Amino acid sequence: MRNNSHPLSQPLSRFASLIAAVLLSFLLPSSNIIMLDADGSMRVPHVNSRPNLSFHQVDVFSSECTRLIERETRGGSCVLTGVHLCGSLSPRLIDLGTSLQRCKGFVLCPCCLKGKLGSDCNGKGKVLGGQRSNYNVLVETMRVEAAKKGGDGRAEVEVRFDLNVMGPKNGFISAKRI
Ligand SMILES: C[S@@+](CC[C@H](N)C(=O)[O-])C[C@H]1O[C@@H](n2cnc3c(N)ncnc32)[C@H](O)[C@@H]1O
Repeated sequence: MRNNSHPLSQPLSRFASLIAAVLLSFLLPSSNIIMLDADGSMRVPHVNSRPNLSFHQVDVFSSECTRLIERETRGGSCVLTGVHLCGSLSPRLIDLGTSLQRCKGFVLCPCCLKGKLGSDCNGKGKVLGGQRSNYNVLVETMRVEAAKKGGDGRAEVEVRFDLNVMGPKNGFISAKRI
């Protein structure tokens, strides 16, 4: 019988961020790792097993989210990460990462885009035909967005594709404030 309270009963789509948060809590023991998700029903029992890991139920588009990040980073700085973000969550991470004073950078691995940015990407993908996959176009679009929002010369933006990721969504855009 499946135990629904067990962390392994999470939808697989959420595994990357759960694993990333736990790994970061070990790799950066003197940093606080804060997980944010709008879904409060997420099962995150591992959070209690790490002293520097916490989970907050919050809509990342809300002003409450901005206040939460500002409160949690008072007297310090932060780096935002987003793994396999869908739709408008990727542009939102770029907005937060480039507008919050205490944010020194971000790492974003987008999944898909919707709305205008999504159809722009599909349009570019069609023009390029087989030369570049739609996902590569999506990653490039987010890189350009990050460079534009970061301001000329104020952020170093890089893209890497991690071939160790066991799936097609393996593009990582990183931005560092300089
Ligand atoms: C497909 S999953 C993302 C993949 C996940 N990061 C992973 O482990 O690879 C989308 C997640 O974003 C969350 N989400 C969607 N809209 C949100 C919002 N406005 N604010 C915060 N979290 C949101 C969902 O609850 C869900 O857990």
